[in-house]
Amino acid sequence: MKLPKRVTVCEVGTRDGFQIEPDFIATAQKIEVVDLLSATGLPRIEVTSFVSPKAVPQLGDAEAVMAGITRRPGTRYSALVPNDKGAVRAVEAGVDDIHTVVSASESHNLANVNMSIVESIAKLKATAEVAHRGGKPVYAGISCSFGCPFEGEVPVARLESVVSRLVDLGAKGIGLADTTGVANPAQVSRVLERLMPRFPTVEWTLHTHDTRAMAIPNILVAMEMGVTNFDGSIGGLGGCPFAPGASGNVCTEDLVHCLWAMGVETGIDLDGLIGVSKRVQEIVGRALPGQIVKAGKWSRRYPLPDGVQSRLAAK
Ligand code: COA
Ligand code: ZN
Repeated sequence: MKLPKRVTVCEVGTRDGFQIEPDFIATAQKIEVVDLLSATGLPRIEVTSFVSPKAVPQLGDAEAVMAGITRRPGTRYSALVPNDKGAVRAVEAGVDDIHTVVSASESHNLANVNMSIVESIAKLKATAEVAHRGGKPVYAGISCSFGCPFEGEVPVARLESVVSRLVDLGAKGIGLADTTGVANPAQVSRVLERLMPRFPTVEWTLHTHDTRAMAIPNILVAMEMGVTNFDGSIGGLGGCPFAPGASGNVCTEDLVHCLWAMGVETGIDLDGLIGVSKRVQEIVGRALPGQIVKAGKWSRRYPLPDGVQSRLAAK
């Protein structure tokens, strides 16, 4: 396999995950989780969203969370914003990076942010202006890049035109989001083969949901194609309240384990991350989809059964 030496993982659990939790996660617990995550060496954390609290009441405490966290040098803290109002709030709250959102699907964009794609792009132009005035880079995420729960197939030409408009407004990076986990590795390869040479200066991120168990295969293909930024969520939390059928992101510790097993560096303390995942399970009050928390790392060893021990010793 053609693997990069190092990849950058962005943790999105406190945003993509906590936004869809049925019970409001207390502000102090959100702060605790962000601080535990940064202590593992995660280079990027998407902390929260500066969206309408009517649309996503679970993240209505975005300012308080940003104000309460302990900033670790080496971690960049970002937040999701859908419009300039969100950007003003996020800059004021001291985020390092602005993550914007628009969908490649007209119906999902209307369901998610109550705007057509064209209206959203206009809002994002204003958003980027606010961000850039505040000295914050813009990373633009595109929901439903590989398919939509309402429309089905999203033509790659449409995706390309959305990317092009986001590049025009000064996005430093583009995040291709598989919001409902419909992408397959052959498709990811086809889409990247088309987009990457067309926009050579873009920093690409793949944002996966593991709804159909294709997240890690998709990440592997993207990595072989030269993508080195991946979003994940602790324990596999996650989903979109405005995309029916959406479930958790690729589980961060499962992804980091896979990368570690292959010798790809992330700078993240995997054992620490597994510990955070256990704490998040306590906070949400249920087991999460992550596998490594249950199975342990591949290097886990079990004591030999008694009979086997004595037979080995007799040899
Ligand atoms: N932060 C806080 N409040 C905001 C806001 C923001 N970024 N953007 C708009 N609002 C407020 C407005 O001030 C207005 O408040 P009021 O009713 O007290 O006057 C209200 O929200 C409605 O504003 P409007 O501009 O008419 O927006 P809308 O109702 O059409 O909703 C969005 C548009 C984008 C604000 C809303 O759909 C949203 O926040 N969506 C977030 C979706 C999301 O997070 N999805 C999951 C992640 S992909
Ligand atoms: Zn997502």
